[in-house]
Amino acid sequence: MASLTIRKLDDAVKTYLRLRSARNRRSVEEEVRVILRELIEGREEPLTPFSAPPAPSTAPTPQRTGALPEASVTLIIGGGIAAYKSLDLIRRLKERRVEVRCVLTKAAQQFVTPLAVSALSHERVYTDLFDPQSEFDAGHIRLARDCDLIVVAPATADLMAKMANGHADDLASAILLATNRKILLAPAMNPLMWNNAATRRNLAQLQRDGVVLIGPNSGEMAEAGEAGVGRMSEAIEIANAAERLLRPPVPRPLAGKRVLITAGPTHEPIDPVRYIANRSSGKQGFAIAAAAQAAGAEVILVSGPVDLDDPAGVTVKHVESARQMLEQVQTALPADIAIFAAAVADWRVANEGEQKLKKTEVGMPPLQLVENPDILATISKLTDKRPPLVIGFAAETEHLIDNAKTKLARKGCDWIVANDVSPATGVMGGDRNTVHLISRNGGEIAVDSWPVMTKEQVAIELVARIARSVTDKSLEPAS
Ligand SMILES: Cc1cc2nc3c(=O)[nH]c(=O)nc-3n(C[C@H](O)[C@H](O)[C@H](O)COP(=O)(O)O)c2cc1C
Repeated sequence: MASLTIRKLDDAVKTYLRLRSARNRRSVEEEVRVILRELIEGREEPLTPFSAPPAPSTAPTPQRTGALPEASVTLIIGGGIAAYKSLDLIRRLKERRVEVRCVLTKAAQQFVTPLAVSALSHERVYTDLFDPQSEFDAGHIRLARDCDLIVVAPATADLMAKMANGHADDLASAILLATNRKILLAPAMNPLMWNNAATRRNLAQLQRDGVVLIGPNSGEMAEAGEAGVGRMSEAIEIANAAERLLRPPVPRPLAGKRVLITAGPTHEPIDPVRYIANRSSGKQGFAIAAAAQAAGAEVILVSGPVDLDDPAGVTVKHVESARQMLEQVQTALPADIAIFAAAVADWRVANEGEQKLKKTEVGMPPLQLVENPDILATISKLTDKRPPLVIGFAAETEHLIDNAKTKLARKGCDWIVANDVSPATGVMGGDRNTVHLISRNGGEIAVDSWPVMTKEQVAIELVARIARSVTDKSLEPAS
């Protein structure tokens, strides 16, 4: 069987191979194997890249699609007894959908074999800085940067000393010096080594450099009869710490708060088949419900008839008329925050027909309108169950700010979100909104005008303001 020395290939071929393997995150040798396999299977990539090689990505981290793992770690295994725990760490990281590429120091190979590490990580294992195959495309730089996090476990006293002093005389230390990624260290060593003044100095330097530490724990050492601080953290602890760095917890400022929201139009029946309605789509209220839920709140959404999917994680009560909406709102109390975004019909038909109204010789049947209950005013004026923060919406077609200020005073709510719904704005049923947040500021009424935003952005901004006011224990929105 013929063997191929990549170093002896033409420059153009080498360039192509280098760029293609870097793009596909494979070693050059693996890339050649893939190309040959594709050729045999008749699905090779077009060869045009020989003349115009694909541009290398300038982004430090390649974009990942949903099918690929969500994060990747370069795991550096140092030469300590605890190296055996790193085999479990690989498994724990992979369980968390983290891709793991491993680097073993020379000393680490005395404790675990590259074969075992490779079998568990399902990846090639890297051991040598001067490996012609991986260094052909500056492999140590790729290992240093083509990942989201570097984990050193076990971090030996020696590796910590090298890091603190900027050494780069082997693959592990060169990667640690060349990286611009966060580094998580899991030290493991004898308590005397851990407490040695040199290790203390190195540790202090590494912490100043922004390196994150997990452990060491205290307990029995491998050496018979010795105990103290120096045991490497358990694999699960290290995997959890890595996950916290890879996927920081999303802030949930409304956790523990109950938020009641109304949305959409109401349908006021004329007879069993006809009703009076308005053009509200419900999009703004639904977006607020989704944003409040994402902020950690328990959300109850009372919605009129809309053509929208229920937001995930939100309790939705579907209603038709204003009276049904009020009933569901009252049932949902108590709440910490109430946001009335529904476009509730002001009137309903008093003489609702029990049967379908017919055309008559004498002309149109007279429709008598009566006022609907005012949900915003009713809840704002409650004495017992009034939510501490009540927010109304004012959809106006003229004198927007003045009408909204009047509404704030008349209804007794805390904030009004005023939006211009005249047909030219396209707000009703549209995806964007221009709003003004009107609130009481001491004795004054403050107006904060926001730029044109999508309804989702308006929702996120409103929820952020609510979160700030809840934290500040003040009902005033920050301007
Ligand atoms: C049996 C044995 C166990 C060792 N365990 C540790 C250890 O737990 N922590 C440590 O810092 N060094 C330990 N060492 C010393 C390291 O292997 C040594 O300092 C080595 O140079 C580290 O290389 P590395 O940092 O490149 O992996 C151990 C040595 C031996 C022989």
